[in-house]
Amino acid sequence: MFYSDKLLIGKSSSEGKPVYIYPSMANRHGLIAGATGTGKTITLKVMAESFSDMGVPVFLADIKGDLAGMGLAGMSGTTADGRIDKMGLKDLGFEFRSYPANYWDVYGEAGMPLRTTVTEMGPLLLSRILGLNPTQSDIMNIVFKIADDEGMLLIDTKDLRSMLQYVGEKRQEYSLAYGNIAPNSLAAIIRAVVALEADGGNRFIGEPAININDWIRCDDEGRGMMQILDCRKLVLNPKMYSTFLLWLMSELFETLPEVGDAEKPKLVFFFDEAHMLFESASDALLVKIEQVVKLIRSKGVGIYFITQSPADIPGGILSQLGNKVQHALRAYTPAEQKAVKAAAMSYRENKAFNTYEVLQELGTGEALVSVLDEDGVPTVVERTKILPPQSRMGTIDDETRRGFVSASELYEKYDEAIDRDSAYEFLERYRIEQQEAAELKAQQDAEEKQKAAEAKLAEKEKKAAEKRKNAATKSVVSSASGSIGREIGKSVGGLFGSFGKKVGGNIGASLGRGLAGTLFKK
Ligand SMILES: Nc1ncnc2c1ncn2[C@@H]1O[C@H](COP(=O)(O)OP(=O)(O)OP(=O)(O)O)[C@@H](O)[C@H]1O
Ligand SMILES: [Mg+2]
Repeated sequence: MFYSDKLLIGKSSSEGKPVYIYPSMANRHGLIAGATGTGKTITLKVMAESFSDMGVPVFLADIKGDLAGMGLAGMSGTTADGRIDKMGLKDLGFEFRSYPANYWDVYGEAGMPLRTTVTEMGPLLLSRILGLNPTQSDIMNIVFKIADDEGMLLIDTKDLRSMLQYVGEKRQEYSLAYGNIAPNSLAAIIRAVVALEADGGNRFIGEPAININDWIRCDDEGRGMMQILDCRKLVLNPKMYSTFLLWLMSELFETLPEVGDAEKPKLVFFFDEAHMLFESASDALLVKIEQVVKLIRSKGVGIYFITQSPADIPGGILSQLGNKVQHALRAYTPAEQKAVKAAAMSYRENKAFNTYEVLQELGTGEALVSVLDEDGVPTVVERTKILPPQSRMGTIDDETRRGFVSASELYEKYDEAIDRDSAYEFLERYRIEQQEAAELKAQQDAEEKQKAAEAKLAEKEKKAAEKRKNAATKSVVSSASGSIGREIGKSVGGLFGSFGKKVGGNIGASLGRGLAGTLFKK
């Protein structure tokens, strides 16, 4: 809760001293770690509520659906009751209340559809989603470059597929200009795009794409809006999940202006199951993530990673997380013991207890907390009982969810997909034109050929007639000549008539189809 102009997240277990996160240091990122069931999600809720109360919008990745309860007020008869009493929270103004939330889902099922475009996602992240190898990613880069150079708009997966096919058709030409484009790599990328579409990827790659500025909002009471992304389905594909969230982070980074040191963050981003982001990430990607995390701070964005063990997070990123809430860790195997030791070592020691031991003894909803104080110095680690949330713990039923979704002020804007004229439509038209041009050329060639054949035939007939004339003059009576002349005239005339009709008719129809086809599709 927001108390005394700070984010109150708990009270020290021994003396009941309040434990705060400082608003001016909240953009110095954070970590919520701990074994399963130790209270990470509740801690996240308590922090998100406090941010909202102080007018800071938040983004939450909801992995299990248990963050959805934010939209409803908490209730008595839960684990919250004991804490409210023991921690004397009523005196501090604690009350059950709901929070202003928008519900999103990349598949558009459990929330408003959250979409992005191929271009906005870019070749690097798209390659990761598609599971491409380095050679294939290089080709993806080239395809993006060609699309740029040719002014081709890549919005949805149809556009991408069409563009890949087009590059394939003109492979030799483009290989000369951009470097080798191996046909089997192109084919592999197309297969990956088709698989992504089958996986529902075509639902979140398209328009209207999310405008991140729509998230930097407060409700009428000045409370920060919560954007809850339902990830229950998305997380089944860890690469897709982590890359999509990474894209959101980089989108925030690119969209928001520099703010330097501010009184409070502009937005706080909670990244659950963060270990998925780092698993099988290439070195190039890790460097990029580290950069984004480092630089996004000055845009006023705080990123909070949620994961089981701090060991899941690469050192370069872990060292940038200033506000840490460490729930209990289990240490059964030597590797786990090592991880717990490392976690314990990363805190400023509190003389009152042994960090390593306490780390394994902490109860549910209890954590070791160290934050950056107002001067940016890490506080001595404190054994802390975390506050209960003010909103509902757990999930909500589908009907309530649908109600929240359709009541959102952003619903009209994002609900329906738009299919704008882009690379796919352009290339379809281009292909039809090419095909018609080819057909027309074939017709013209045929016509030429027939004309030549006719001329040849006419010449032959002329010669034959002359021969016959000469012969007749020489040996046949004049009545017979008249009959032959009529016969010849008939057959020649018939021949011309049939050709004339056939060629003329076909060319006419074909021209008509060609023009109409192009005009109507434009
Ligand atoms: N601060 C708290 N106040 C009240 N109850 C809490 C608190 N923290 C944890 N609990 C209780 O413990 C349960 C488990 O907590 P939570 O769901 O946050 O664990 P978790 O670490 O997120 O687990 P998982 O790793 O499985 O997601 C909660 O449903 C709640 O009943
Ligand atoms: Mg949880």
